[in-house]
Amino acid sequence: MKIFLIGLSGSGKTTLGKPLAEELHLPFVDMDWEIEKRENKSIREIFSQQGEDHFRQIEAEVLREWASSQQDFVMGTGGGAPCFYNGMNIINQSGLSIFLDVPIEELKIRLAAATDRPLLNTGDELEKENKLRLLREARLPIYNQAHIIIENPSLEKLLKAIHLKK
Ligand code: S3P
Repeated sequence: MKIFLIGLSGSGKTTLGKPLAEELHLPFVDMDWEIEKRENKSIREIFSQQGEDHFRQIEAEVLREWASSQQDFVMGTGGGAPCFYNGMNIINQSGLSIFLDVPIEELKIRLAAATDRPLLNTGDELEKENKLRLLREARLPIYNQAHIIIENPSLEKLLKAIHLKK
């Protein structure tokens, strides 16, 4: 089984994805890390040197490759991956998608000190919150196409939802 965790930055795709993969005896794949390895640059550098469009192209390539691979895995996707180049359909056709739905108030706290998310890169907390709200509003119709939606996700909730779905 290929499991794709989707959702905004800070929703727990990596934090929950790693123990989830362990429980399911599957490898964990961090999409941003795959992109960084391929480009030999940090996400921040890719955005600042080559721009978001270029980043989205690489992101789409990486997604397609993993989606069509023979391997099973749990993947923490980048927050925007389902939203560009038909990403959500690719995900839904090749595996099980799970939207980690975390309220903005909580994301705001989790991302307060983060400086590695170019889309949210601002020192101003209010501006960060507004950007998160805009991203959520724009992406919700796509994220909501996930096979499973989990509000305030935890490892226990994830495991239960996956076993019920099997
Ligand atoms: C992005 C989210 C980031 C990373 C890039 C763009 C987005 O990943 O891919 O900064 O468009 O929401 P995380 O969701 O892991 O933070």
